[in-house]
Amino acid sequence: MSVRIGVVGSVNLDLVASGAPLPKAGETVTGARFAQHPGGKGANQALAARRLGANVYMVGRVGDDALAETALSLLRRDGVDVQGVMAEIGQSTGVALIAVSPEGENQIIVASGANTLVDAGDVMGLPECDAILCQLEVPIVAVMAALDRAPNLFAINLAPAITVPDRLLKEANLLIVNEGEAEFYGPALHTGKGMVAVTLGGAGAVLYHTGEEIARAPAFDVPVVDTTGAGDTFCGALVTALAEGQAPADAMRFASAAGALAVTRPGAQPSLPSRQAVEALLKP
Ligand code: RIB
Repeated sequence: MSVRIGVVGSVNLDLVASGAPLPKAGETVTGARFAQHPGGKGANQALAARRLGANVYMVGRVGDDALAETALSLLRRDGVDVQGVMAEIGQSTGVALIAVSPEGENQIIVASGANTLVDAGDVMGLPECDAILCQLEVPIVAVMAALDRAPNLFAINLAPAITVPDRLLKEANLLIVNEGEAEFYGPALHTGKGMVAVTLGGAGAVLYHTGEEIARAPAFDVPVVDTTGAGDTFCGALVTALAEGQAPADAMRFASAAGALAVTRPGAQPSLPSRQAVEALLKP
């Protein structure tokens, strides 16, 4: 039977310019290709878990503008339950402006819009779940309310890195960070009761518990087209696998394979892999 995962997080529309070098401050570069895709760390992680077989309920907010339907389109199409995503009158839907270099690296700036209005009350609508997964693109009050509703597995992707209450670091069952975020939070990451997963890009990912390494997943050798959404894929996959009861080392391999597949295609949500594709990559 599928696990049930609640995601409290952001919903954005990603406006992407790819194929030109990333600009320095004050510089204009030309020659990029344009595309738009549904995005937002919350929505990406929700859809990642859904494509890997979880039943997913999403809590978030969009605006009452024309962008909202596009931003929600792939969540709806793939069967994420978006009853908990409110449309906020007079607000704009979150938008992310994304530049992707020819090497697949990105720069992202987010105009959060309605995402800033997600609050503790929204979280009360979450049904019973096997796991709750949050990120930091919605207000911290909503994240803390989700922690208070925590089932056995409360996971937080500490992205983008901001100062958070100590209690979040101490009480979450799973913290997920990339190398930059790990540096931002420092030793405080390892002061809690939960596990800490650190993604290392092309070098795989490591799982710690109380500061000790308990599992390591290799990187998979795949062509890099666009890294946008790869971290979100890892988060959705790791939480799905742990909620299913996979052993930590297996769950890390599963998440690492899912993240690897996500970099082989452009866009965040269009690149999220199916369960079948992940299992095929994991086959010896
Ligand atoms: O993690 C990638 C996501 O970050 C993008 O989809 C963008 O919307 C930003 O939230």
